[in-house]
Amino acid sequence: MRLDLAGKAVLVTGAASGIGLACVRAFQAEGARVAALDLAPVDDVVAVQADVTDERSVAAAVGVVAERFGGLDVVVGCAGISGPVGTGAAETSAAEFAAVLAVNVTGQFLVVKHAAPWLTASQGSVVLLASDSAFTSAPGMVPYCASKGAVVAMTRALAVDLPGVRVNCVCPSVVDTPMSRGDLGDVLDDPAFPVQAPEDVASHVLYLASARSRTVNGQAVLADYGVSARSGFPA
Ligand SMILES: NC(=O)c1ccc[n+]([C@@H]2O[C@H](COP(=O)([O-])OP(=O)(O)OC[C@H]3O[C@@H](n4cnc5c(N)ncnc54)[C@H](O)[C@@H]3O)[C@@H](O)[C@H]2O)c1
Repeated sequence: MRLDLAGKAVLVTGAASGIGLACVRAFQAEGARVAALDLAPVDDVVAVQADVTDERSVAAAVGVVAERFGGLDVVVGCAGISGPVGTGAAETSAAEFAAVLAVNVTGQFLVVKHAAPWLTASQGSVVLLASDSAFTSAPGMVPYCASKGAVVAMTRALAVDLPGVRVNCVCPSVVDTPMSRGDLGDVLDDPAFPVQAPEDVASHVLYLASARSRTVNGQAVLADYGVSARSGFPA
């Protein structure tokens, strides 16, 4: 399938690691012009260092990229944190809860807010990283699940709020990245545990960013090997 992304101006947040970095490399392979926004620098690409929770920094970073490219066609929001995974709700502080929402929800909002004028001009598209954690949970994941449920709802609201701009999100199950390694460790190496690669997610992101998905808007694409489709019925 031809994605026709060559020459498109793409901004990826959370681009220094994991899924964001895989998206950067996949867009580059399609010939897109890619900018990477992260706390950390990224090599071989237009890199802007910013904290997505800081509105001034986000506004400045998005402005620098849009001016450099003469516009923006695609924004991919990957910046995210997992927070106190493994800590029960009773032991989770308000500050820990707020910190997760600040990056995973407010951070996504701020990037789209400041890219919106450019995306409206180009009739562009946004792809946000939500998670299967918007729909399912394990013990000790309350802040993260709350944040990802909010990303799914915000995706629908943004799709309605930004005429001409398509906004979708992807909801992968566990992906082998520094984030999941830090939270789950060697469980990821168990062949019985279905883990996906960052490149699997990048494929979905590129499809949703491209005109091949022009009729898809306000949707959450759940990619979990079908695990959540299975009933608890003992059969
Ligand atoms: N790894 C998984 O299993 C998995 C599954 C589903 C969804 N996701 C989501 O995918 C996205 C990427 O996750 P990942 O696994 O690649 O994580 P990662 O930790 O490998 O990469 C996250 C990147 O976000 C950046 N970042 C964090 N806070 C930031 C901030 N305030 N401002 C700017 N950049 C910031 C980090 O510096 C890092 O480069 C996240 O939103 C995550 O919730 C991950």
